[in-house]
Amino acid sequence: MEVLDLRHFAAPMLRPVLEAESELWQTRLHWDYRASVRLLAQYLDNHMLPGFAALDAGQVTGYAFCVYEETKAVVGDVFALDSPSAGAALETERTLLLHLFELLLNSPQVDRIESQLLLHPSGAHTALFRDASFQVFRRLFLVRPLAGLWSAPKVRLPAELELRPWRDEDLTSAGRLIVEAYRDHSDSIINDQYRTAHGSLRFLHNIVRYAGCGVFSAQVSHVVVERHSGEIVALILGSRVSEQSGHITQVCVHPHYRRCGLARTLLSVAAYAFLRQGVSEISLTVTEANAHAINLYLAEGYSRVHTFDAAVWQRKGRA
Ligand SMILES: CC(C)(COP(=O)(O)OP(=O)(O)OC[C@H]1O[C@@H](n2cnc3c(N)ncnc32)[C@H](O)[C@@H]1OP(=O)(O)O)[C@@H](O)C(=O)NCCC(=O)NCCS
Repeated sequence: MEVLDLRHFAAPMLRPVLEAESELWQTRLHWDYRASVRLLAQYLDNHMLPGFAALDAGQVTGYAFCVYEETKAVVGDVFALDSPSAGAALETERTLLLHLFELLLNSPQVDRIESQLLLHPSGAHTALFRDASFQVFRRLFLVRPLAGLWSAPKVRLPAELELRPWRDEDLTSAGRLIVEAYRDHSDSIINDQYRTAHGSLRFLHNIVRYAGCGVFSAQVSHVVVERHSGEIVALILGSRVSEQSGHITQVCVHPHYRRCGLARTLLSVAAYAFLRQGVSEISLTVTEANAHAINLYLAEGYSRVHTFDAAVWQRKGRA
């Protein structure tokens, strides 16, 4: 097996790999990966995607790539096919990841590396990440079937709060809420965007404007606003990830308004809005250490169908 710079290859060379990967996203997570493939294909055709390709007898059998956000690198994906001479897909994926680590760890401008390989079951690459000094966090992929949900949820809120659908101009206030909601939270170790207003806004732009995680739905997404200040104190964001599946990309509540049932209400409102769009199931991801949130999701009818790893590496002295 040869490993070469991914920028040598245009999208058609990777088509068999991307098709096999799309199939796995569909069967394992009910996620339509084709929109992501179209985006990747544009970057590949422009020879702009940093990463590595594995080759066997002149055919691409796997790839791994990263994206840069200022001084952070995010390992976007790794995926390989079984191949006659290189062996099992897992081995090829490991080789590709090791190449990516070597590149990034030796890039002095990269202070931090984050990775959430959603498709790959927890454990598949854990040891590799740990050996390269990453911190690894187990995350759960939960699914709630919507069959049997027929009536609109009853919403009861304290008088000072108002619930309404998401509006485009909510981005800045929503960014402020994310910083407050995730202060000293394990998810802000995994995703450093949650730690600052600038980072949270970037996270929201990616979800809302750039379809970074499915197609954003403003009908499903809702905010709870404090009437006197106009500030958002709770929110839920939802996207369509396939014909049949919706995905909750964010749910959070300001510490001052916790344990009043806001998250439960928002989950019901979003579920009903998804149902009206013809969706038959909703998924979301949650860090295993976030026990309160997991209890809430289980009580709302979600159950675990998959686990995956989030991994973080921070260059020493540059936290
Ligand atoms: C998790 C979170 C969204 C819950 O919001 P909330 O509005 O306080 O939740 P609710 O009041 O609707 O709680 C519903 C149930 O969840 C469970 N729960 C929520 N917070 C809990 C806590 N701190 N301790 C114990 N159970 C808790 C309880 O079962 C609760 O029901 P109960 O109050 O009748 O006992 C909120 O704590 C939060 O924003 N956390 C930080 C961001 C986050 O973790 N988001 C989820 C990422 S996947």
